[in-house]
Amino acid sequence: MVTASAVRSTVGQKMLMAVSGIVLVLFLVAHMAGNLKVFVGAESFDHYAHWLRTIGAPLLPDSGYLWIQRTVLTAALVAHVWAATSLALRARAARPVRYAHRRPVQGSYAARTMRWGGVIILLFAVFHVLDLTTGHLNPVGDRAHPYANVVADFAPERWYVTLFYTLAVLAVGLHLWHGVFSAVRTLGQRTAVGERRARLAASAVAVGLCAGYLSVPFAVMSGLVG
Ligand code: HEM
Repeated sequence: MVTASAVRSTVGQKMLMAVSGIVLVLFLVAHMAGNLKVFVGAESFDHYAHWLRTIGAPLLPDSGYLWIQRTVLTAALVAHVWAATSLALRARAARPVRYAHRRPVQGSYAARTMRWGGVIILLFAVFHVLDLTTGHLNPVGDRAHPYANVVADFAPERWYVTLFYTLAVLAVGLHLWHGVFSAVRTLGQRTAVGERRARLAASAVAVGLCAGYLSVPFAVMSGLVG
């Protein structure tokens, strides 16, 4: 049985980070696959978006599945940030006297940027919902035609939107690189070969996801999709 004290233990919190991280990664893979429908055409993309609202009908009401997904994603995000913060505070408390000569380079670039990357991703999430879900920050903002919203969003004159999306996706990529690397290293052998495998797996997931996500804004910007 999972007790409250088990969740508060360091191992419990690491498990919570891993489980919530896996939920978020599964969503990222599914969302990327859906976004790639933009290359099939407006009809296919809009049909897919409409299907998302009707999953589970008639058992679930309209958008019922989407609300379940929103609840699960929000819970996973809150758990992930809470466990990360609590683990970081605990690590600091274990060493109340700061190192007099802290080495400036510690861990990989991805590990050192986890916190700032997390902040960029959270800001992006708020902007993204107001842009492509509610349509308030989108030049078209037509909920029935998400393809038109995406094309309007990444028009060449709105290069700053593409720039923000690029920064956010790269932050997600770096975040994922570190997350997958740590997870595979925890599960695998702590040897040079195991480390190399963990690096390879992390790079494959991060590069694959970044390329899939970024292909959409760049295809619109360059006129390939429109
Ligand atoms: C750069 C490429 C991206 C594009 C073109 C894109 C496109 C879209 C579109 C069109 C929707 C609305 C779907 C609909 O209402 O029918 C959506 C929703 C969503 N996107 Fe993205 N997205 C991108 C990247 C991301 C990233 C990197 C994340 C996560 C970090 C993300 C998280 C979400 C979430 C959580 C929703 C659902 C919001 C809701 O509950 O309605 N997206 N996206």
